[in-house]
Amino acid sequence: MSAEFNTIKRVTTNTLQEMKRQKHKISMLTAYDFTMAKIIDGAGTDIILVGDSASNVMAGHETTLPITLDQMIYHAASVIRATSRALVVVDLPFGSYQGNSKEALNSAIRIMKESGAHSVKLEGGKEIKESIERILTAGIPVMGHLGLTPQSIYKFGTYEVRAKEEVEAKKLMEDALILQQAGVFALVLEKVPAVLAKQIAKKLSIPVIGIGAGKWVDGQVLVSHDMFGMNEEFSPRFLRRYLHLFDDMTKATKNYIKDVQENKFPSEKEQY
Ligand code: KIV
Repeated sequence: MSAEFNTIKRVTTNTLQEMKRQKHKISMLTAYDFTMAKIIDGAGTDIILVGDSASNVMAGHETTLPITLDQMIYHAASVIRATSRALVVVDLPFGSYQGNSKEALNSAIRIMKESGAHSVKLEGGKEIKESIERILTAGIPVMGHLGLTPQSIYKFGTYEVRAKEEVEAKKLMEDALILQQAGVFALVLEKVPAVLAKQIAKKLSIPVIGIGAGKWVDGQVLVSHDMFGMNEEFSPRFLRRYLHLFDDMTKATKNYIKDVQENKFPSEKEQY
């Protein structure tokens, strides 16, 4: 692990490439608002993802499908205002890029222009190659996302681990190579067997960031609300909770209510 990366002023796609070369693991977390992004950026996270998981975490939808491009831009602009170190990646939402490379480019341009973000992420392999290449022609860096791709949940039917069978594993490796060749600067691998993720990370020269993809990839990403323990219902095997904020915030709220009801808040010191 090289300390030089911890003091870097602004992480770029070149920094990430160098981190892979030097085997310095890359940290990535999601953020959707100014306050959370300020904490995560200030702590030294390398990449902040304005994920379309905002659809679940911020808006309470069951899937990532309903979130719109305008809503993603709102979240991304709030995050950008808080960050000075991390590279900010924004998800292109469902319906803003699939099957139409011109629309993909327009969506990516809107995100970059209206939020000030540094790059975009798209889900899928061979089928979105043309969209990726078109976005890259505008000088917009693109991150790929393979394995469990939540925008295709109705095709998969479940949130189970992907590519356990040889045919799907082979297709995943092929897609990873296609994305690298198309020019993505990094790849997220979600919920795939650790041994397969290891083979892909070894084969690719770009960084591979895992979520539920084991320890042999080049970096890790988690949804920050899950990592902070703000969400009690979601407990996949890959999730490590570093705090239990759901419990702590519930306790704090109960204490506040009690203080208000007993007229213990505000005190004399807390009034004008
Ligand atoms: O939207 C998101 O949060 C993501 C991560 C799970 C990688 O895509």
